[in-house]
Amino acid sequence: MSWQIAIDGPAASGKSTVAKLLAKKLNFEYLDTGAMYRAIALKTLNLGIDYSDENNFDFLENTTIDFNDSRIYLDGVDVTSEIRTVAVSNLSSDISKYKVVRERLVAMQRELANQKNIIMDGRDIGTVVLPNANLKIFLTASVETRAQRRLNERKEKNQENESLEQTIEELKKRDYNDSNRKISPLKQADDAILIDTSAMSVNGVIDLITSLVLKRGYSMENLEEKNVVNENEEEVSQVEETAAEEKGASEEVSEETNNKAAYKEMQIVKGVVVEVQEAQPERKRGNTVYKAKEERVLIELEDGQQGYLYKKDTADIADDEDLFDVFIEGDEVEVAIKKIFDDGDVFLFSTVLVKKRDELLAKQAFFEERPILTATVVKKVSDFGLLLKYEDFTLLLPYQLMVNKPEDVSTLVGKTIDVVPLRVDLARIRVIVSEVLAVNKKKKEQKKEFLSKVQVGEVFDGKVVAIEEYGAFVEISEGVEGLLHISEIDHNHVSKVSKVLNIGDTVKVQVISLDNDHIKLSRKALMTNYWGDYFQDKKVGDVVTGKVVDINNAGVRVDLAQEVEGFIPRSEYSWFKDVKVEDELKAGDEVTAKLIEIVHSKKRVILSKKQLTENPYENVVVEKGEIIDVTVSNVVENGFTVSYQGIEGFMNKQSVNANKVNDIKVGDVVKVKVRVFDREKRVFFVSMKDAEAKMEREKVTKYIKSQDKMTNTIGDYINNLKK
Ligand code: DC
Repeated sequence: MSWQIAIDGPAASGKSTVAKLLAKKLNFEYLDTGAMYRAIALKTLNLGIDYSDENNFDFLENTTIDFNDSRIYLDGVDVTSEIRTVAVSNLSSDISKYKVVRERLVAMQRELANQKNIIMDGRDIGTVVLPNANLKIFLTASVETRAQRRLNERKEKNQENESLEQTIEELKKRDYNDSNRKISPLKQADDAILIDTSAMSVNGVIDLITSLVLKRGYSMENLEEKNVVNENEEEVSQVEETAAEEKGASEEVSEETNNKAAYKEMQIVKGVVVEVQEAQPERKRGNTVYKAKEERVLIELEDGQQGYLYKKDTADIADDEDLFDVFIEGDEVEVAIKKIFDDGDVFLFSTVLVKKRDELLAKQAFFEERPILTATVVKKVSDFGLLLKYEDFTLLLPYQLMVNKPEDVSTLVGKTIDVVPLRVDLARIRVIVSEVLAVNKKKKEQKKEFLSKVQVGEVFDGKVVAIEEYGAFVEISEGVEGLLHISEIDHNHVSKVSKVLNIGDTVKVQVISLDNDHIKLSRKALMTNYWGDYFQDKKVGDVVTGKVVDINNAGVRVDLAQEVEGFIPRSEYSWFKDVKVEDELKAGDEVTAKLIEIVHSKKRVILSKKQLTENPYENVVVEKGEIIDVTVSNVVENGFTVSYQGIEGFMNKQSVNANKVNDIKVGDVVKVKVRVFDREKRVFFVSMKDAEAKMEREKVTKYIKSQDKMTNTIGDYINNLKK
């Protein structure tokens, strides 16, 4: 995965200057996110829209921002200098509080960050855009310093300028805006390193950040060889200087008294053998006791400085050999200064050290390949670091380059530590090593190995490490994260990631796609899709069976399968109005119904029981006013229900002659007149009285018609009626 450096800080704190130079030095891409907000501000001004209303920013959808060769292009037009005006600066701070603006730009920024090693500067890089950046820096400086810098910068670029006071006010206002907005305010990330640049040079800041980058284990293969060496030397020499300072005072004294300023311990020098002195036993002369002396070689350097070489410090000499066998007066020899004594005594020389230096020289290329070495701790070196042994080589591990320095380092003596060489120090015949680098290197190797092996379909118990609106990042192996998109969390709709997952949760996920180092994960792929499974072979119109969960005012809830619930609205229960659901069903009963609506996105299922049978009203042939025979099907409180051609109608008591009401019983076939028949609304009312009246009228009419044929006068007609 790419390396990310996040630099945040208030306006004019030097972010972009530092980020740009650092990017060049480390060979990273640089993304100036502030310029993106500025570009949007410029477009806002150009469009002349009311920018106090966030709803007016839908133009973002059709806006492109590109970077090329340190220039920024808005919708394809180079706006590099236009975005630096005071008006754009101020407006960029105002519009950057809008959610639509931030969402759009943050998405673009993340997209860019995924592609390359990147340094990004802004306000929310460490907190929002790149929460997992390898290094986060928070740059700051006093507002006066920043204002002065901004003035100088504008002057240099011949841009419009304000007074120092006005610039201070401008910055203060922007600081306030940027730090107090609701969404992603300017804030130092918890794990960011604060650098106050007020009294620092640009180079000082760059050097400091570079050393932090290296310390975090950035693989230096990407840097030019020259750079690598310099950086390491700087870092280590800083550490070493501390140690040197501690030794400092006493060394200076010794240098003065011995006048040996030109020499250092461990230095390799050339000399001539003056004399090979024999061993001497302890002697007494008078009261004076002369200590026993070992055999030794007196060697003199070019400037007259002298020193001894003892057998134990002599390389390539066999046990049964004497120094006499190896050295002859006048021999030229190369020796290392093993010890310079404070009291003015002569030096102590060693050829063992010279041999070791040569061996180190021979192995230098190996160390410079930076392998991971397992070394054994030998001892601590004052408050400075640990001396380790790898094969026959001495390694120095400064405490600052240890991962976890225990309170009592002496507990580490005899134990092994994995380290990576940083620099071969030939002068001191040792290798400076870093444990931090070894750990990072191992992680990187593990990660690489993991990525080379991981396959689509593999399942992991991952850990949620970050939560975003669009999903969660899940760590599936050390340092390897994949995206669990919100749509992949569950088969059921997830409205908010944090409702289901929290940082630190363990979650079972499956790799569903691999694109370079981008891993896409799914949680739902491992979960039973009850809904999907249920509807796999079902469609609208199918008949299904379920269990009544409960009956409420609106209808019946039916449990169809696990996580699948259907609903029968009351209007879909029966074709007949007087059928009461409660009379026929209770919770727990089995019910069969037809699927009449399935809304997958909302997980809504509507069922109909009545549609299992045909609508009986559909086929009834009857008209209002018609006289028909109906069968009384029930006697109810204020009338009778009657049936006719499979449908049910109602006849109230008032529509039956009072003297007949009590005679009517279930099963009777009675003549009625249709008062209302509404096929749509399924309303059917009949009346016996109306039928009788109608029939009476018809009788009279019929009689009149028959009499009309015989009589011609109205008097005859009346007389006939009277008869
Ligand atoms: O860094 P700059 O001054 O060019 O940024 C201009 C404005 O953009 C700044 O006032 C706040 C806003 N900004 C932001 O909100 N988030 C970022 N990551 C970068 C800039």
